[in-house]
Amino acid sequence: DKGNYKHFMAKEIHEQPEVVARTLAHYIDFANNCVRLPFELPFDPKALTGITLTACGTAYYAGLVGKYWFERFARLRVEIDVASEFRYREAPMPENGLMLVVSQSGETADTLASLRYAKTQGQKIIGVVNVSTSTIARESDVAAPTLAGPEIGVASTKAFTCQLTVLASLAIALGRARGVLSADEEKRLVNELMVVPGLLAESMKLEPKIEQLSHRLGKTTDVLYLGRGPSYPLALEGALKLKEISYIHAEGYAAGELKHGPIALIDEQLPVIVIAPSDPVLEKTVSNLQEVSARGGKIILLGDAHSIAAAATPLAGEIVMPAMAPDFSAIVYAAPIQMLAYHTAVFMGKDVDQPRNLAKSVTVE
Ligand code: F6R
Repeated sequence: DKGNYKHFMAKEIHEQPEVVARTLAHYIDFANNCVRLPFELPFDPKALTGITLTACGTAYYAGLVGKYWFERFARLRVEIDVASEFRYREAPMPENGLMLVVSQSGETADTLASLRYAKTQGQKIIGVVNVSTSTIARESDVAAPTLAGPEIGVASTKAFTCQLTVLASLAIALGRARGVLSADEEKRLVNELMVVPGLLAESMKLEPKIEQLSHRLGKTTDVLYLGRGPSYPLALEGALKLKEISYIHAEGYAAGELKHGPIALIDEQLPVIVIAPSDPVLEKTVSNLQEVSARGGKIILLGDAHSIAAAATPLAGEIVMPAMAPDFSAIVYAAPIQMLAYHTAVFMGKDVDQPRNLAKSVTVE
């Protein structure tokens, strides 16, 4: 049931404040401002040597964001790859290693094959899954549920932000259990997570503005997305979302890679979406943005009032997000990225819920 929405995708985008809050409530002890995992860790966290993370598509991008958190909060090395590559690499895996697989459906063939390979290599498996009865949930040592509810739209939206929520909670929990994150730090991070649903709700109010910008995107053939730090995987996700439902060619790049090639694409026609929350790498992103601007690129800036002021260059468009702490801004910034793709595809008259050639669950390789 689509409720009052034209598409499942729109409904699922708008459900995010609620389902992220529900997922958080499953992992966070709100009374004591700390993470409380709904399961026992299947290994000794102090002996853990590293994490291998595999997934496909949007779930893989969630993993890429998660990598920043596991490194920073838990001081763990994270090896990450798409499951279709990982499963055939015969990668050596460390002793006392954790394999994290991320999957909405829990049935993706390549992700499942990667899980099975990791098992033969003695890894402990945590499956971050949305469908609790799925094969991946059953074959994992521990299933870490995302409580997004059924996702019907082929393009993943609410499952993504719920995956991020679980990965963030897990990173904090591992940091604490390994003795590398102080109780004060945990409290600060948990407080930041607790405001995410409200920030997501606020960002929904930007929809009319995003819809207006989408009419311009709907008339182009190529779009470039740039981001740094956790905004880099968001750039990849933005490009994927746009291409899968609007069929516009889009690419996501790490902002710092611009001068190593893609800058050659910049001309007066190319829309460049720069994802730039106020975070420790903002200054660097701004200098990349100015390089685009100097070459006549049409910049649409997704940032807050501070980053837009810092850009100090003419913009073709801006999406002004609420101010927030930097650590989990990727969860909130996912929403405008999704809305931009959605409205572009709707404007172009595409079938948003059932894009051509795509299946919701990829159970064959
Ligand atoms: C993109 C999308 C796909 C899935 C991918 C993995 O919008 O939906 O890229 O994310 O097929 O699927 P799951 O998460 O079910 O393993």
